[in-house]
Amino acid sequence: MTMALPSLGQDPWSLLSVFFFQLFLLLSLPPASGTGGQGPVPRVKYHAGDGHRALSFFQQKGLRDFDTLLLSGDGNTLYVGAREAILALNIENPGIPRLRNMIPWPASEKKKNECAFKKKSNETQCFNFIRVLVSYNATHLYACGTFAFSPACTFIELQDSFLLPILKDKVTDGKGQSPFDPAHKHTAVLVDGMLYSGTMNNFLGSEPILMRTLGSQPVLKTDIFLRWLHPDASFVAAIPSTQVVYFFFEETASEFDFFEELYTSRVAQVCKNDVGGEKLLQKKWTTFLKAQLLCAQPGQLPFNIIRHAVLLPADSPSVPRIYAVFTSQWQVGGTRSSAVCAFSLTDIERVFKGKYKELNKETSRWTTYRGSEVNPRPGSCSMGPSSDKALTFMKDHFLMDEHVVGAPLLVKSGVEYTQLAVETAQGLDGSSHVVLYLGTSTGSLHKAVVPQNSSAYLVEEIQLSPNSEPVQNLQLAPTQGAVFAGFSEGIWRVPRANCSVYKSCVDCVLARDPHCAWDPESRLCSLLSGSPLTWKQDMERGNPEWACARGPMARSPRRQSSPQLIKEVLTVPNSILELPCPQLSALASYHWSHGKAKIPEASSTVYNGSLLLLPQDGVGGLYQCVATENGYSYPVVSYWVDSQDQPLALDPELAGVPRERVQVPLTRVGGGASMAAQRSYWPHFLIVTVLLAIVLLGVLTLLLASPLGVLRARGKVQGCGMLPPREKAPLSREQHLQPSKDHRTSASDVDADNNHLGAEVA
Ligand SMILES: *[C@@H]1O[C@H](CO)[C@@H](O)[C@H](O)[C@H]1NC(C)=O
Ligand SMILES: *[C@@H]1O[C@H](CO)[C@@H](O)[C@H](O)[C@H]1NC(C)=O
Ligand SMILES: *[C@@H]1O[C@H](CO)[C@@H](O)[C@H](O)[C@H]1NC(C)=O
Ligand SMILES: *[C@@H]1O[C@H](CO)[C@@H](O)[C@H](O)[C@H]1NC(C)=O
Ligand SMILES: *[C@@H]1O[C@H](CO)[C@@H](O)[C@H](O)[C@H]1NC(C)=O
Repeated sequence: MTMALPSLGQDPWSLLSVFFFQLFLLLSLPPASGTGGQGPVPRVKYHAGDGHRALSFFQQKGLRDFDTLLLSGDGNTLYVGAREAILALNIENPGIPRLRNMIPWPASEKKKNECAFKKKSNETQCFNFIRVLVSYNATHLYACGTFAFSPACTFIELQDSFLLPILKDKVTDGKGQSPFDPAHKHTAVLVDGMLYSGTMNNFLGSEPILMRTLGSQPVLKTDIFLRWLHPDASFVAAIPSTQVVYFFFEETASEFDFFEELYTSRVAQVCKNDVGGEKLLQKKWTTFLKAQLLCAQPGQLPFNIIRHAVLLPADSPSVPRIYAVFTSQWQVGGTRSSAVCAFSLTDIERVFKGKYKELNKETSRWTTYRGSEVNPRPGSCSMGPSSDKALTFMKDHFLMDEHVVGAPLLVKSGVEYTQLAVETAQGLDGSSHVVLYLGTSTGSLHKAVVPQNSSAYLVEEIQLSPNSEPVQNLQLAPTQGAVFAGFSEGIWRVPRANCSVYKSCVDCVLARDPHCAWDPESRLCSLLSGSPLTWKQDMERGNPEWACARGPMARSPRRQSSPQLIKEVLTVPNSILELPCPQLSALASYHWSHGKAKIPEASSTVYNGSLLLLPQDGVGGLYQCVATENGYSYPVVSYWVDSQDQPLALDPELAGVPRERVQVPLTRVGGGASMAAQRSYWPHFLIVTVLLAIVLLGVLTLLLASPLGVLRARGKVQGCGMLPPREKAPLSREQHLQPSKDHRTSASDVDADNNHLGAEVA
């Protein structure tokens, strides 16, 4: 047959394209399984606006910077602090949150003028950015904002979840509660009617403060002159515990000798019952202690910059743990990476009960304090205001000797996590699973699950912001089963899961989403509620063979399961058939099989996952795109290719499987001449591959230019195992004539139980 595609053997361009196509496959292969590198890959990715994850977006004309979110006690109202306004949103019903009401709270003209006069931008900075929004009591919220670089706070009265207007004479000074600069980090939490805040206390942003205000107890602050905090301390979270309130922040570390400025993440504690000193440390904390937080993989640079931290609510079975996201000061290979670490509260308590560090004034070095024990123990919550000896000690001994070591649950490069929310989800078998929702600096949300004994995996990635804006805030609404994500342009409502995107039991089980299970009766993947015993889920292993065994997807004694549906395709003379294969999971590898026979090499090629088939004798029959994931192989889609003139007899094994006639994309090959075939089909293939080649060549040159790149490239080639050594040598004549045979994996080579990647190269 003159039309056969392998006539490309004589065309140097085609050969080049084959070579680069292979190069492309090589480079785009996932790194050899296991440690380090990229970290877990989201199993499913949704682009912004993807209908499979129908999200709702709230926005309000004229408003922006939806930075602060607060859930009402009954969980039905979301209060939102935006730029110069506070909103109450009704989130009771699924779909777009509905505006209950909105109250303006602009900075005064006077403050705006002063702000502009001090060389701040009247377009971007001299506004009231809401930074604190907490429930004060049953009838009032408490809010603070930057108020054009002049922080202000106020109570806001509520009436049936409606916000009443702010009275000008009720606005008070908010210094130490809200930052001056909207770009500065801050945190605040209300405990027993008192506001614990960590923020910048001056216009210049050089004086961090940790402060307690409101309520009946005295106002307490950190001492500036004792340098308890480095001037660049940046607070990200405040979490109350039984006796103390913990603050999480990042600052320059002064206790290490290091050739460059080294940041470190910290946890600080203050006691709730602290009332300040009587003679010493008046109106100052007498129980301020801080310790280093360490989130690192063994033998690697630490993730030293904390971005956010949350406490897992107490209903979990184990000890309360704090989950925090970190990034690193160092960019390895030009990309940022992030980590999630978990810290147990008992570890934190233990470190604060341990040894202190002290600064040797002569050598300016921090060393372990080895002096005598002071009683009552300085920094403990039983220390009274009048124990001068302990207070004197406290002035210089506020840094703990030991650090709190966290367990890295997830390490991922190329991503910068900015926010997280955490909850536990009960699986079908009653075991509970930690679920993390992670917001990124490019506006996407990762849903991660932490299995009991291993590191986390990513169930999905949802791109929320179409223009890659960072996630500013995440608020879980458990009764609504949704996560709310605040952005500069508006607020996204993201349901925890859409189980119906998993169309088969296999897909449902492989997803390992604790919120979803397969209902064999309705044959739907559904949201778990009430845990019916007949439903199927396998959180621990994600093994469909076990979980879907008795359903219609049962595996026959032979390894391949039979298809659920066969799509019938008619060949059209002089046209290339394109059989698409939906790639449901990024964790699966895909290959094409042709019944028990070999894929007819002479008349087919795989491009972008689709099988391109040139109609000719013997090409008809069953074609299946087979996915292999977690050691399990299953057909994703099955086609029966038939020709109009000579219908093929259907394989008796496939009798009884429902069939459906479908239209697939066709490319006309005019005239039937081989030249025409090349002209109509090859051009777009060629253009793509040649462009790709140029880009890849550039990338490769860059990669190889750096010694690290050489190492990495070497590692990749060795780790790959699919490539015969001679591939590294320039193309030989032999290869020209046999472009693809060596690398093709035919269906019969692929065994479900080994880890053959089964990538098709043609
Ligand atoms: C869930 O997924 C199904 C199937 O892809 C889709 O039809 C439906 O609109 C989705 N629903 C939501 C709420 O995302
Ligand atoms: C900011 O100030 C400039 C002049 O100083 C003025 O022209 C401009 O309109 C102001 N912008 C806003 C938003 O007030
Ligand atoms: C809540 O606090 C506000 C402000 O201090 C106060 O005016 C109001 O009476 C309090 N309401 C209740 C129910 O305690
Ligand atoms: C997790 O590990 C602990 C010991 O490290 C073991 O006792 C437990 O059975 C393991 N759990 C699972 C689900 O594998
Ligand atoms: C690859 O296939 C997917 C669908 O499977 C399609 O959306 C995408 O546009 C294709 N890409 C190219 C370069 O053809």
